Amino acid sequence: MQAQPSCRREWISRGEADTVALAEYLARRVQPGTVITLDGDLGAGKTRFSQGFAAALGVKGVVNSPTFTLIKEYEGRLPLYHMDVYRITQDEAEDLGLDEYFEGSGVSLVEWASLIPDLLPVNRLSLRIEHAGGDSRIIQCEGMGSPYAQWVDELPQQGELKKNGEPEDGKA
Ligand SMILES: Nc1ncnc2c1ncn2[C@@H]1O[C@H](COP(=O)(O)OP(=O)(O)O)[C@@H](O)[C@H]1O
Ligand SMILES: [Mg+2]
Repeated sequence: MQAQPSCRREWISRGEADTVALAEYLARRVQPGTVITLDGDLGAGKTRFSQGFAAALGVKGVVNSPTFTLIKEYEGRLPLYHMDVYRITQDEAEDLGLDEYFEGSGVSLVEWASLIPDLLPVNRLSLRIEHAGGDSRIIQCEGMGSPYAQWVDELPQQGELKKNGEPEDGKA
């Protein structure tokens, strides 16, 4: 198999609204089978990102951390599979049949994905959220393969996204 291109960027979030704007921007690009992984310490903003993403996808109602349920499904413009694999081992995760979600007709958001590296699809968007003092976060974005590398390459900077996640110049 040919090596897929990948693209990395550091994206600065100056507060919750920026993280939500990034989530909204990415939610505009999703298609069936999109996989986005979220890592970072407790309180980094993984779930906050997921909530903004879900809302932008048209999910009605409350999106909570699925820490105890492992996987929650929501209906939006596309189905949303919100997973949190913090409490399971890779062996246990294998039994969940995650591939069915990753290759399904919806969009997968996986919190703590770095705990199950062997079970992730090769092509994915990885977001690692790091505390950077106060409400600031550094979001390490890595797009692996198509179309994610291009997403990261084209990602507008913080401050270039409007509230609804549209880039300032109106191009989506
Ligand atoms: N820049 C930011 N991005 C995301 N969340 C932020 C930011 N600044 C402050 N917060 C706050 O940090 C908390 C993140 O919590 P949460 O999303 O549940 O974290 P995690 O799921 O990573 O454990 C929320 O209370 C949110 O309001
Ligand atoms: Mg969480």
